[in-house]
Amino acid sequence: MKNVTLGLVGVGRIGVMHAKNIAALNGMLNPKGINVTLRLTDVAEEHARNVAADVDAEYVSSVGALLASGVDGLVVATGTVTHPELITAGVDAGIPVFCEKPVALNVADALPVLDYIRDNHGVVQIGHQRRFDAGYLEARRAYQAGELGWIHSLRAVTCDMAPPPVEFLATSGGLFRDCSVHDFDILRWLTGREIVEVYAKGSNNGDPAIGDVGDVDTALALVTFDDGTVGTVSATRYNGAGHDVRLEIQGSSRSLMVGLDQKSAMASAEPGVAFPSGEPHRTFAERFDQAYRSEMAAFVELVLGQRENPCTPEDAVAASRVADAAQDSLASGVPVRVAATVRSSRI
Ligand SMILES: NC(=O)c1ccc[n+]([C@@H]2O[C@H](COP(=O)([O-])OP(=O)(O)OC[C@H]3O[C@@H](n4cnc5c(N)ncnc54)[C@H](O)[C@@H]3O)[C@@H](O)[C@H]2O)c1
Repeated sequence: MKNVTLGLVGVGRIGVMHAKNIAALNGMLNPKGINVTLRLTDVAEEHARNVAADVDAEYVSSVGALLASGVDGLVVATGTVTHPELITAGVDAGIPVFCEKPVALNVADALPVLDYIRDNHGVVQIGHQRRFDAGYLEARRAYQAGELGWIHSLRAVTCDMAPPPVEFLATSGGLFRDCSVHDFDILRWLTGREIVEVYAKGSNNGDPAIGDVGDVDTALALVTFDDGTVGTVSATRYNGAGHDVRLEIQGSSRSLMVGLDQKSAMASAEPGVAFPSGEPHRTFAERFDQAYRSEMAAFVELVLGQRENPCTPEDAVAASRVADAAQDSLASGVPVRVAATVRSSRI
């Protein structure tokens, strides 16, 4: 049996979920001859001790102590502003890092991190879990196999049921950087094309505190790809019907919708139509449960050198470029070209 010890830093909204998933990984990985153990830390000490006790992990007092304890891989699930320093710390320790999206608050802050990773031969996987979701994987396979023909329209939707705390939103970078960045990533990954222009609009009809911290609660971006194909990316924090993440891909031969199943948070207005009949997902953790587990299993395999990196920092920053352009368009009210691909802070 190969033993892998992961060190997790940050056990807030998503970190707790990762802690539970890592604790449950052995069911999936023991049959492959891999055994995973977990150490974790958070500046909220008492909370971290409780989480550690809940998932049978070891609590460690600081990031420094975690790295010094000889973990094989570092999982970063702290707020976005801390990602650069923690990625750097993991690279300095000479171990693979899994970091939640995004690499940094914006592309300008991310470029020195990319340089540091490259210069020091770091291995860093970024958390765009939709790349592991069965529906998105099937849509990509079908498109790339030519089953859809050429794509004429793409519509990506990400709706939270309720906003996260305003304190979180204040440092999240804005709705496009925090939320729609997943859609920007998946559109690039699925089509193999670059988004070259974004025209964004937003609104604030929910809690005024969201506007007070400079964010919007709902937004829509019209995106144009490098072959002229157009698509829309929309997001809201106020979807009472449930957590709703979908992607419509309409092709010249066939169309598919990711996220259309019995749990879709959408009812038909047509008389006599009972579909969908299930209870909708309420959170991102429920909607992407399978994807988050597969993503963490992939990180363990990356730590063991058994697979390619499924989401590189360069890929994540490419999605962040689109998010930056969307935030700029939202602020300026005009379409914004996605910045030419500057790949280094030194250029
Ligand atoms: N992939 C996804 O679907 C997804 C979903 C939600 C959040 N995220 C990303 O995950 C990150 C965390 O989001 P969240 O909602 O869990 O935030 P959160 O504020 O709920 O949790 C962050 C946790 O990190 C701890 N922390 C902060 N700085 C620390 C430090 N230096 N050392 C140790 N602990 C520290 C905080 O005490 C807190 O418990 C964000 O970057 C966000 O963009 C990704």
